[in-house]
Amino acid sequence: MKKSILLTGTAGFIGSNFVPYFLEKYPEYNLVNLDLLTYAGNLENLKECEGNARYKFIKGDICNRELIEFIFNEYDIQGVIHFAAESHVDNSIKNPGVFIQTNVNGTFTLLDAAYKYWMEKPFTWKPKYQDCRFHHISTDEVYGTLSLDPSDLFTESTPYAPNSPYSASKASSDMIVRSYQETYGMDTVITNCSNNYGPKQHDEKLIPTIIRRALAGESIPIYGDGKNIRDWLYVLDHCKGIDLVYHTGKTGEVYNIGGRNERTNLQIVDAITTILDQRVPKGKSYKELITFVEDRAGHDRRYAIDATKLESELGWKADENFDTGIVKTVEWYLKKYH
Ligand SMILES: NC(=O)c1ccc[n+]([C@@H]2O[C@H](COP(=O)([O-])OP(=O)(O)OC[C@H]3O[C@@H](n4cnc5c(N)ncnc54)[C@H](O)[C@@H]3O)[C@@H](O)[C@H]2O)c1
Repeated sequence: MKKSILLTGTAGFIGSNFVPYFLEKYPEYNLVNLDLLTYAGNLENLKECEGNARYKFIKGDICNRELIEFIFNEYDIQGVIHFAAESHVDNSIKNPGVFIQTNVNGTFTLLDAAYKYWMEKPFTWKPKYQDCRFHHISTDEVYGTLSLDPSDLFTESTPYAPNSPYSASKASSDMIVRSYQETYGMDTVITNCSNNYGPKQHDEKLIPTIIRRALAGESIPIYGDGKNIRDWLYVLDHCKGIDLVYHTGKTGEVYNIGGRNERTNLQIVDAITTILDQRVPKGKSYKELITFVEDRAGHDRRYAIDATKLESELGWKADENFDTGIVKTVEWYLKKYH
């Protein structure tokens, strides 16, 4: 008998990279995909899965308690991997309310429905559901910002210090997940990942914006002085990390996932425009389109992950480094935008 796993937010960037990978790797699972299809969700991202009998898509809101309970009952859900979120920091500055609604209330609704479906009471599982796990996908942004000292890295014990409404909403959701583990004995795991890049990311994010605007001959906006540092991870390496933690992570634990590939935004735009200059030369360099714009409010200076726990305890290792991953990424967007 196949097991049904509920995946949320899979029409977005990371989820839509995860589903085909997971569907192919685990023939013993049925995947029930719940996504509200906000502006960030696109079913085109999941087209390759549509014909698969083990893939089911449901359009709906993670805040809709009735719907969530219906899905647990109807499909006998025995695991949750929760990607759904409002995820764009700039939007959270303009319109924080929806971030609290989806990221905090939505996570609570899912967790509480899972608890009631899988468990009789605190620390007592219904017999059939003893192996059921809730995996919450989160971000390194919950830890706040780092100094420029290269040895200063986010570990799983770094205190939370979220700075944007987005990261504060994700930090809150992490805390609610933790409380269900501590108070009710639910089997939860949390992964906090650094910035992802790769195919299927929404146009609004940095790397697709750089490629799209460069190809259109438009200015490429870079915030502030361009020296903000992020730790970039190829999306499929994140998916492999999630798979590993979901299946082998210790209950109640948090794992950081990061590529040890710190880059400033200027290095990112330089790498991409160098590839574009070689792949689709236009007479003058794409670098001439780079334009500095007013910095994002409260823009965190540096994020960098120490992934030692995931590497040493579970044996995870990124397959791509930034130089290999960015070439694959640009190739994918060239097909989309060119
Ligand atoms: N992108 C990154 O670099 C990154 C890094 C670390 C962690 N994360 C986390 O990974 C997860 C996925 O990120 P992403 O980049 O794929 O995001 P995304 O914005 O591309 O996709 C989010 C998806 O969630 C769906 N959604 C939004 N609100 C919903 C709701 N109320 N009910 C159901 N579905 C809803 C959207 O329609 C969309 O398909 C998020 O939890 C994010 O915080 C992202």
